[in-house]
Amino acid sequence: MTSTRGDHAIGNTIGVEILGSGSHLPETRLTNADLEKVMETSGEWIVKRTGIEERRIAQWDKGEKSSTLATGALQKALDDAKVTAEELDMVLVATMTPDMPTPNVACIVTKNLGCRTISAIDLNAACSGFVFSISTAAMIMQSGLYRTVGLVGVDCLTTHIDYTTFGRGAAILFGDAAAAMVLRTSDNPSKGMLAHKMHSDANGSEHLFIPATREDFPKLDDYEERKLSKVQMNGQAVFKFAVSKFQQVIAETLEEAGISADEVDHFICHQANSRILDSARARFGIPEEKLLINIHSYGNTVAASAPLVFDELAQAGRIKPGQKVMFLAFGAGLTWGSSLWQL
Ligand code: COA
Repeated sequence: MTSTRGDHAIGNTIGVEILGSGSHLPETRLTNADLEKVMETSGEWIVKRTGIEERRIAQWDKGEKSSTLATGALQKALDDAKVTAEELDMVLVATMTPDMPTPNVACIVTKNLGCRTISAIDLNAACSGFVFSISTAAMIMQSGLYRTVGLVGVDCLTTHIDYTTFGRGAAILFGDAAAAMVLRTSDNPSKGMLAHKMHSDANGSEHLFIPATREDFPKLDDYEERKLSKVQMNGQAVFKFAVSKFQQVIAETLEEAGISADEVDHFICHQANSRILDSARARFGIPEEKLLINIHSYGNTVAASAPLVFDELAQAGRIKPGQKVMFLAFGAGLTWGSSLWQL
């Protein structure tokens, strides 16, 4: 599926502003040294191949799970935006790790925060979830349907990791986190989404999946009971997909918006592997200060990854009105996409 939107200004009188952001991380750190104790790996190998030094891991028995992290992140974003929970018209949560199949995380968040009986939706597109969600929220808001939206990216994928040598390819990568934003419509139509791309290709789904049953394995011979409910990843295939689609989606988004890479102030990228990000920087000549890499501290936090980067930039005072920022992500599905914003 491909969907694009052309010139933001044409025929559109409603703008959308990002009013505030926040993030909420589990307390517990999982360092490379911790991983060395439970599997055959080395901190040196992990840093060289991925850039990751540590990640956070949610302790479900202490009440840390997707809904609690999401609630904490959205509360901070509301405080940052100086907006109350009662003002929200919709909560949209990007996640592939809800606390349970139902209720969805968004419903639990609205209860925790004391929202009105508003629209509460979860969107699952794995690591692309937040980027797909911010584009979806923008389109809904530009239609005039909702004025104020709470948007969250949250995942606790570490519950689906095999922390033994068998699962080491994925075990080194993932961490848990939540990050959120508050969006509000504006009567300045120049603010908001300039272009976006949403892509998927399920022909590559076998390279990254979490099987629920034996029948979920593309090759039944690969089935082993210990693999059920754990991330199954062909690291090299995902790496190749990510490098090529990442560069492709940047190019097509710039073309759609009719701007050059130099005109983008921040590339807010899903953090999967620092080498993937470095390849995009080299291809488009993006200076380091325009593409923040924070993977060393958090690993790959799935749907929380891109908004965590945005929040880090915002809290450092580096997000400013008038800037152009491009959100980018790729992940299981396979999915990949972008959302280019004029702040
Ligand atoms: N520690 C030490 N050695 C490891 C290891 C680990 N955690 N994981 C794999 N290895 C070993 C392999 O067994 C292999 O050994 P061999 O040559 O003796 O067979 C060797 O390292 C090279 O394996 P390979 O899979 O080619 O490594 P790589 O350079 O591709 O790095 C990833 C592995 C997972 C870090 C890398 O493929 C990657 O990041 N892929 C993208 C994954 C991703 O982004 N997923 C999320 C998408 S949203």
